[in-house]
This record gives sequence, C-alpha cells and structure tokens, in this order.
Amino acid sequence: MTPTLGARIKAEVEDWARFSTEEGRLTRLFLSPEHAQVAEAVMAAMTAAGMRARIDAIGNVVGRYEGETPGAPALLTGSHVDTVRDAGPYDGNLGVALPIACIGELNGRGKRLPFAVEVIAFGDEEGVRFPTVLSGSRAVAGTFDPAALAVRDVDGTTLEDSLRAFGCQPGNIPAEARRPTDVIGFIEVHIEQGPVLEREGLPVGIVTAISGASRFRVSVQGMAGHAGTVPMAARQDALAGAAEMVLAIERRAKGHEALVATVGRIAADPGAVNVIPGRVDFTLDIRAPADAVRRQAIADVQTEVHAIAQRRGLTVTLEEFHSQDAVVCDPRLMQALEASVARCGHRVCRLPSGAGHDAMAVAALCPMAMLFLRCGGGISHNPAESITADDVDAAARVFLDFLEAGLPLPAPSKD
Ligand code: GLV
Ligand code: MN
Ligand code: MN
Repeated sequence: MTPTLGARIKAEVEDWARFSTEEGRLTRLFLSPEHAQVAEAVMAAMTAAGMRARIDAIGNVVGRYEGETPGAPALLTGSHVDTVRDAGPYDGNLGVALPIACIGELNGRGKRLPFAVEVIAFGDEEGVRFPTVLSGSRAVAGTFDPAALAVRDVDGTTLEDSLRAFGCQPGNIPAEARRPTDVIGFIEVHIEQGPVLEREGLPVGIVTAISGASRFRVSVQGMAGHAGTVPMAARQDALAGAAEMVLAIERRAKGHEALVATVGRIAADPGAVNVIPGRVDFTLDIRAPADAVRRQAIADVQTEVHAIAQRRGLTVTLEEFHSQDAVVCDPRLMQALEASVARCGHRVCRLPSGAGHDAMAVAALCPMAMLFLRCGGGISHNPAESITADDVDAAARVFLDFLEAGLPLPAPSKD
C-alpha cells in the first residue's frame, strides 16, 4: 500500500531527527554542524518538490515555488529546525516538511498558483544556544537588531563568527528583510504542544493569538565560604536565596490562571560540595496572553526577588534579554483556514498558543495565521512528543486546500 501524504511527511520529519549533537537524543542548536546537516536535507527536499532553494544570510533555508507569473508576491510559510535539548522530533520541523510536501504534490500535478509560495526553515526559534530568539524570522521581517551579532554562546563564540563558520555573510542580513509588497501573508503549521485538540477529538485547530514572553538572566551574588565553619546565621548563601526566589516566582505565576513562569536553568558557583555557593545564575521565562498581566508579573517578581535578597544579605540583578508582546492572528487568514478545515470535513476549533513561534516575528511584516495539529497528551519539549500520520495527513489536506482555494488577501501590486 502506498503511504499517505501524512505518513510520508511524518517519516521525513522523523528521519531529520538523526541530525543531532547528542547520541540517542535530539539536540540541534542554531548554526551547529547538525543544523548544517538538516539544512542540506531540507534543501534537497525543496529541490525535489520543484522549488529553488538557498541558505540566506542568517542561516534560514528558503525555498521558492514560483506562481503562474514568475516574481509574483509570495505567501510565506515554514517553521524552525532548531530544537531544545532532548527534544521531540516534530516541534518546528513538521511545519517545514509539511508545506514542502504539499508543494511537491502541486508540482507533481504541474500546478502553479496565482502567487508564489516560499517555505522557510528558520534556525533560531528556541533561543537555546545564544541569548537571542527568533533571529531568522526577525531578519525576514526586517526587525533583526545587528547588535545581536555580538552575543556569545557558552563557549564564548559570537553569533557573527558562528554565522561566518556556517557559510553566511552577516553583512547581508538587512537585505533579507522582505518588502511588504513582496509578501501576501505567513502561515505556520505547528504541533499544538498542548491538550486542547486531543480533548476536542480534532486533528487540527486554528490559532487565535500567541502569548507574549519575556526572558531574563538573573544573577544572585552572595559570599562563598567554608561549608564546615561558617555558622548558618552568618551565611550569605546565594543558592539558598535563589531557591527562595524560584519558589516566589512559582507562587506569583500560580496566582493568575493565564500566567506561566519558568526557571529552566540554574548554576551555582563555585559549585563544590564543601563550599557555600557565592553566586547563582538562573534563567526566567514569563508568559501571558495579555501583555499587561505579563508586565505586572515582571514588576512583582522584581520587587519580590529584591526583597528576598535584602533579607538574606545578597544582591540580585535581572537582565532582560528577550521581550515579545502577544500577537493576534489575522482574521481573514484565519477565516480562510477555517473554510479549508470545514471543507476537509473537520469541526472548526479556535485556540490560543501559549508557546512562542516564528509567526510572532513575521507578524511585524505581514498578516499571519497558524494551523495547529493535535499531539499526544499535549506533550512537547520532551522526546515523548507524538503525532499520528492520519493527523498529519489531515493537516496537509487542509493546507493544500487553503493554497488551492486562493487567498483572501488581495495580492499587493509590486512597486
Ligand atoms: C518555543 O518553543 C518557546 O515557546 O519557547
Ligand atoms: Mn516550535
Ligand atoms: Mn519549541
């Protein structure tokens, strides 16, 4: 039996999971050798699907399928191919493989659309390697800040040097910014990473908005000392203080239904069994659908961690390295996706996204919308992430219908 379109897409994404830094688990960071390997596989898939493919100045893989008229404005689509550490295979990668396969279907039928389609495999959505996030999608949207080229990874390598080693020309990043007149909109297909579609018994859903997010580096300074001699009352233990701060952050987020806060990484220095920790660094990620709720939570957390530090004779600094307000999906693109969902025989379900996506950055350039796909148990950022070939097939059919139905937005004339 010939595998379905969905089964082929799922198999391709699973195949890409072999491009990993770590044996036996999927970790693929921005501009790593494994990123280069997956980029090559993505380019090959794009070329096989009838697209012209290239790697741009920020490490995105960009594939273009011309429309009936070469050079016509393009519908942009795609997602990311970088991963978190010990990731599931589908986060991001599915939203790259699925549209390429759909274009392959059109190409196989010799079908061109009234607009071009560009599939972009972004490289820096997770923000795990560098203290940057969404660099690829920001470059395309024209909002990439060149100052970010100076940031360093934990080994001290700058983003600029890493780009050069990847074969990119960082000086050309500004030229990657699209003119609004050259693009029609952006659609991102992504696994839901939450439980709603599974609960609703639906393979796909339409995203209404994406939560805003802020990220901080928090440093707690105390005083290192001898674990055997310094009396408990005389200590300035940075780790004990940080522990109290982490719990205060958790308490603050639990106090509001739609607010989430995460301390995902923590390191104590000097880090020895018999030394009182003199310094602790931890990360803080705060998100909410409403920007005012997020901002108030940040203000409260700042007040609280300073109070804890003061009580314990510590100092604390919070340095924000990412801030992105919530974005709302475009109503006309949402309606067009919903019409496709209905035509494909599924009940229409709208849901918000708590996770961040490249679509947030591209929203600064053009109207955007997202199609979510059900995932098992809502589990993601975890190797246990799962989807079914039938659901991928349903999402691919919706996406193809959306492309072939024509777009609700008038293609802007080129100036
Ligand atoms: C990306 O997955 C994020 O939401 O952090
Ligand atoms: Mn993702
Ligand atoms: Mn992710």
